[in-house]
Amino acid sequence: MPQYPLPNFSTDLKGRVALVTGASAGLGVRFAKVLAACGAKVGLAARRIDRLEALAKEIKAAGGIAIPIQMDATDAKAMIAAVEKLEKEFGTVDILVNNAGIPDAQRAHKMSTELIDQVIGVNLRGPWILACEVARRLIAAKKPGNIVNISSTAHFRYDGGGAALYAVTKTAIARMTEALAAEWAHYNINVNCICPGAFISEMMEGMIKRVAQGKEELMAAGFARKRIGQPEQLDSTLLYLVSPSSDFVTGAIIKVNDGQGSRGNM
Ligand SMILES: NC(=O)c1ccc[n+]([C@@H]2O[C@H](COP(=O)([O-])OP(=O)(O)OC[C@H]3O[C@@H](n4cnc5c(N)ncnc54)[C@H](OP(=O)(O)O)[C@@H]3O)[C@@H](O)[C@H]2O)c1
Repeated sequence: MPQYPLPNFSTDLKGRVALVTGASAGLGVRFAKVLAACGAKVGLAARRIDRLEALAKEIKAAGGIAIPIQMDATDAKAMIAAVEKLEKEFGTVDILVNNAGIPDAQRAHKMSTELIDQVIGVNLRGPWILACEVARRLIAAKKPGNIVNISSTAHFRYDGGGAALYAVTKTAIARMTEALAAEWAHYNINVNCICPGAFISEMMEGMIKRVAQGKEELMAAGFARKRIGQPEQLDSTLLYLVSPSSDFVTGAIIKVNDGQGSRGNM
């Protein structure tokens, strides 16, 4: 029988190498900081290199290790090169946070073909290619790993409002999680998924401008607890899914949404 600590939970990620996509803004910034604070060496990926460089500096100043990697999540070659670069720098990538994502912010029938391709490209094709690239290298190195895909509560419920394709891609990434978890279970690669509710980020600020006159409280008015999440409130779920304590957990879809979809006091 294996011996487990009491409790069987650790946030020590020393020796781990993590790639976080969408690390130039919003949730990705926090994910990267959290992983680095717990000892992982982190690759910060996105297009806005100036922001990644600033974040890498901030992480370094706090005692962590991170490198900026400019990467467009619609460019397969760039994504593969990003994994390669991180592996050369620090070793096999054994944590992938597939976080980069974009909204459509358009009625389905008004979307251009370019926007359709972009939304599917960033939200689904990119995470798929990265997951496969990371898994391929883990399998070759005979190492375990953790992949965390960021979906959305739009996976569970979509009531209209100009995010139809976004919702479709977020359901697809949840299903991708289950499928790849099954595909790679015997390689000890755990694939799990977080479905956040509304959290403050650049994307959410854009939505607040569009649908709530730029007022956070108006946006939150329909939520049971009348509040929007802070990225910090995802820390524990992320750490759970990348730490050894979740070694029995794969293919899980975890909603973190403060009960936002439920009825408030009516
Ligand atoms: N915030 C929420 O309320 C919420 C709720 C549910 C789900 N989510 C999901 O959480 C994830 C993060 O969202 P967020 O709210 O933090 O969004 P955000 O603040 O808009 O940040 C999005 C990140 O994705 C990156 N990105 C976008 N297009 C890219 C591309 N073509 N190539 C590479 N990187 C790209 C952006 O970097 P560059 O522009 O520098 O490339 C940025 O770092 C997304 O998957 C989103 O769907 C968010």
